[in-house]
Amino acid sequence: MANHLIMNFNTRDLTEHQSDFIVLGSGIAGFFTALLAARLGAAVTVITKRTTQDSNTDKAQGGIAAAMDADDSPDLHYSDTLLAGAGLCDCEAVRILVHEGPRRVLQLMDMGARFDFEGGRLALTREGAHSCRRILHACGDATGAEIQRILNQQALAEKNIEVLERHFAVDLLVKDNVCRGVLAYDEQGDRLKVFRSRAVILSTGGLGQLFDHSTNPDVATGDGIAMAYRAGAEVMDMEFIQFHPTVFNLPGAPRFLISEAVRGEGAYLRNRSGDRFMPGYHELAELAPRDVVVRAILEEMRREQESAVYLDLRHLDGELVLRRFPNIHRTCLEHGLEITRDMIPVAPAAHYMMGGVKTNYFGETNIERLYACGEVACQGVHGANRLASNSLLDGLVYGGRIAERTAGLWREPMPVRVDFASQMSAPGDTVNHNEVREELRRLMSMYVGPARDRQGLEQVLDYMSGLTRLESTAARTIQGAELRNRLLVSRLVAETALMRTESRGGHFRNDYPRPRESWLKHIILRK
Ligand code: SIN
Repeated sequence: MANHLIMNFNTRDLTEHQSDFIVLGSGIAGFFTALLAARLGAAVTVITKRTTQDSNTDKAQGGIAAAMDADDSPDLHYSDTLLAGAGLCDCEAVRILVHEGPRRVLQLMDMGARFDFEGGRLALTREGAHSCRRILHACGDATGAEIQRILNQQALAEKNIEVLERHFAVDLLVKDNVCRGVLAYDEQGDRLKVFRSRAVILSTGGLGQLFDHSTNPDVATGDGIAMAYRAGAEVMDMEFIQFHPTVFNLPGAPRFLISEAVRGEGAYLRNRSGDRFMPGYHELAELAPRDVVVRAILEEMRREQESAVYLDLRHLDGELVLRRFPNIHRTCLEHGLEITRDMIPVAPAAHYMMGGVKTNYFGETNIERLYACGEVACQGVHGANRLASNSLLDGLVYGGRIAERTAGLWREPMPVRVDFASQMSAPGDTVNHNEVREELRRLMSMYVGPARDRQGLEQVLDYMSGLTRLESTAARTIQGAELRNRLLVSRLVAETALMRTESRGGHFRNDYPRPRESWLKHIILRK
């Protein structure tokens, strides 16, 4: 009996599936790793929660940062990344990222990804805290969609890769600190299945959906963190959540990202009174690090008692706006705004998790045969605040490293077969999943968002401690399992945010508004 499993089952009763590697998630990190591993000879099963289109990668707009230009260098990219990371980046992890990044981007281009070119050279844009133009983009503002398109196409054509959509990974099957596979729920077949493998690669993305407003797709509920933590993996830096400063915020309209590249091309931020306020907050004005811009926006909103500030593109060349931001232009138009004439109402929303499952520089976790890459992983490359457009690059570089590290592992014997079973008590009927999920999101947004304090964090943790029965009983449905994941990961974020009595990067405490030397360290949790 293993006590980290949240659904009742016995592997002896379930259909079994076997492959060399199981990759959980189908965004850039998952698919890139799967493709390289498959090309090195491994049989790979990619399990994805919904469809291959439901990923943060697909939604990425601005682009992918890499020192590809003659006027740029990995060293410059390195120092920008460290500066944005507010003292907590792992320098070696950053060094690897910026030096291996350009080669991985070329590999992606070899696979067929088409980035924008201008005059025979890669067209590069600028984003916050970058000291030069270094962001590659595609189709103007649909970089992620182009990358996802090419990875989907390649993965589906690759004979060594099987892609299973609408499979919800419930738990990792770990015994004696060795990961032996995954328990997953096949939604179409309406049954649990066991997936056995030589290694499991976690690339399940982040947790934006724990908050009321997010740039992330519905599937981003922290499932990978939750299952890894339950299985005994170490998690690090969970208090650092990045809020994106500029997310469309028109009453009644859905939220969507307005890329930082819009400010990179010269757009201004104005408050309700029409004042351009960022120069008063930071010398880099609209291109200050994200956490700085977010706090400035919140301050302006608070001062004016407004629910948004405004992005102003009216002074930019209209032709450039249409060419660079065709999707943003079209989407705003659908809501009655012509962005070359009208300002865009925006407010911050949850965007990215800097922390995650702790790994070394090869994606290895503290559990044997369990690897992690992309947003779910944390080797310290982003520190306390990720530099814009470093996330797609992170997926490529550290995914690529896992594929190379595990080359040949598929020739080794499968881990010894172990049966798993779980028989927990069933939950009472008293918990209304929708109510708990919404209340959790409300509390996380109110007290664990871009500005926190002890009182608010304790209030959230109090609410959660009233739900321990839910955590200690078996889930009967995938909605129940997902809710347990939300609860666990929300607790990890709130607990670490309470522990860190300072402000740094994506973690801001009203009651400790400055960074403290004594906190130049990481919080690592293990069950
Ligand atoms: C954006 O386009 O603003 C998002 C880029 C990122 O989060 O790195």
